[in-house]
Amino acid sequence: MPEFVPFPKSFQWGTATAAYQIEGAVHEDGRSDSIWDTFARTPDKILNNDSGDIACDHYHRWKEDIQLMKDLGYKAYRFSLAWPRILPDGCGKINQAGLDFYDRLIDELLRADIFPLATLYHWDLPAVLPDGWVNRSTVNAFVEYTGVTTQAFGDRVKNWITINEPFCASLLSYKYGMHAPGLQDPYKALTAAHHLLLAHGAAVPEIRANCTDSQIGIALNQGPYTTPTRSQGDLSAARFSDGEVNRCFLYPLYGRRYPADMLADYIQLGALNSMEPEFIKDHDFEIISVTTDFLAVNYYTRNVVKASSKQKSKPDEVIRVPPPENNQTEMGWEVFPYGLYETVSRIHWEYRPGEIIVTENGASYADKPDINGKVHDEKRIAYLKGHIQSIGKAIQAGVPVSGYYVWSLMDNFEWSRGYSQRFGLVYIDYTNQKRIPKDSAAWYRQVIRQNGLFVDNE
Ligand code: FCB
Repeated sequence: MPEFVPFPKSFQWGTATAAYQIEGAVHEDGRSDSIWDTFARTPDKILNNDSGDIACDHYHRWKEDIQLMKDLGYKAYRFSLAWPRILPDGCGKINQAGLDFYDRLIDELLRADIFPLATLYHWDLPAVLPDGWVNRSTVNAFVEYTGVTTQAFGDRVKNWITINEPFCASLLSYKYGMHAPGLQDPYKALTAAHHLLLAHGAAVPEIRANCTDSQIGIALNQGPYTTPTRSQGDLSAARFSDGEVNRCFLYPLYGRRYPADMLADYIQLGALNSMEPEFIKDHDFEIISVTTDFLAVNYYTRNVVKASSKQKSKPDEVIRVPPPENNQTEMGWEVFPYGLYETVSRIHWEYRPGEIIVTENGASYADKPDINGKVHDEKRIAYLKGHIQSIGKAIQAGVPVSGYYVWSLMDNFEWSRGYSQRFGLVYIDYTNQKRIPKDSAAWYRQVIRQNGLFVDNE
């Protein structure tokens, strides 16, 4: 007998997107380049040299997209604001046309009875800001941008995410070179991580000042790291990765400063010369650990990692063990729903953030329309089912999860993978921008209607 997993009455069911991944219109109405525009113009940084120039053309089709959400019964929508549309010089002069776009979008969402959750920074940093997040003055620019946007929209948008995935915006971008600006400098990467956290902390009081009854959080990508063996080498590889991805952000946000084991590893790597790096100034940790209303968690997979087989390997020479062929998405990520249960539970019991909102979860599969124009994406449905069930179980166990957003509403520009990855509940035909809801889109509508889902009893 299938069992029904119910959800709390006020649970937020939504979908998520980000500006650069869907909007296109990168040269329109006074928008300046972001670091992703310049990165995308650099040959071989992005698969097939794709870019966000057109993407889903959402800048022109926003009305149709909101109507689609409404028709599909999606109650909440997480989107991001493009900083270079609003402050093309990074700070200073305001571009009214940029504000107007989001003004219309927000009004239309509210008219459609869709709850807006706005992300201030989803990686499209204005390219004019010198040295990006390595430069401490970018923090001031971010606070200014936060002020401008929350003054403009704080009367209607009450729920704000400051920064999306500071791990990706710092270490992945400045140490591993995979995201814009594509550097490989561990010291700069840690500096960027610190400034992103500082920008979050400094923005919180600014939002509160402009937006009464605001609910504010930061979005972290989180997930477990496990090992194939219990050897000391493998365990320390997992500890290292967990430090860089999970604890490097959770610790300072919840009053614990940076993980000492991680700083010690960076010293061993020659990337730091002290446990008190000079980019940390007096009172920074007080600013970073400001109380927030929720923690936003983005979860996709777990990672199995092991030590390099070299005789004397460096702490960051971690080898990723690929998941079984039959249990991975197109991204090569393992399908591991229990990891979401583990992740939100660990965060709740160890850090007590108050509320947790799962602001991204979803899967890339390549399904295309069949001869009848239908997209049968059973694997996505199975993925979502497993993960939503995990949240239901976590809630039953006392973990205060108050919302869930599928990544993504529609197929879009998947960063360095370009358009090769399709995460959408809605299929995009990039030749004519047609939107085709996949089977998963209707399945998700049913979950929302029932405020829960049926699962097979284990
Ligand atoms: C996350 C990003 C999001 C999307 C998903 C697949 O890391 O926040 O923009 O690309 O991965």
